[in-house]
Amino acid sequence: MKFSYTVLGGGGEGSSWFTYLNKVYDWFEERIKIQVIADDITSKYVPPHVNIFYCLGGITLTCFLVQVATGYAMTFYFNFNIKILIMSYNKIFFYILSKIL
Ligand code: HEM
Repeated sequence: MKFSYTVLGGGGEGSSWFTYLNKVYDWFEERIKIQVIADDITSKYVPPHVNIFYCLGGITLTCFLVQVATGYAMTFYFNFNIKILIMSYNKIFFYILSKIL
């Protein structure tokens, strides 16, 4: 069972972006045999007792990685000048967010 052709459609000739996805699939399949990897991953089932709370570890890990990334960025861009900090805060909360929300 070919992963991309069956799961992602890929019917008509040159009709959709699926066609390009199929080309990407073929490119990788030719070189690193991704079908074997996909079969291996998709043949494993989540045990029935696993529920939504099992996401908590992944969510915590993701939050931590976001903190690492933003902390690293702030070592370059953070400004200790209180006037600039207040202006930046006001810009985010009263200008940018008011446009979005
Ligand atoms: C920064 C803190 C932590 C992170 C990032 C983290 C991350 C994870 C992740 C990704 C998993 C696998 C997915 C899941 O079941 O959610 C996991 C499983 C687990 N974690 Fe944590 N964890 C943290 C803290 C803790 C603490 C404080 C405890 C216990 C005191 C704990 C106990 C466990 C146990 C027992 C499992 C296995 C659950 C199972 O498969 O039945 N973790 N953790």
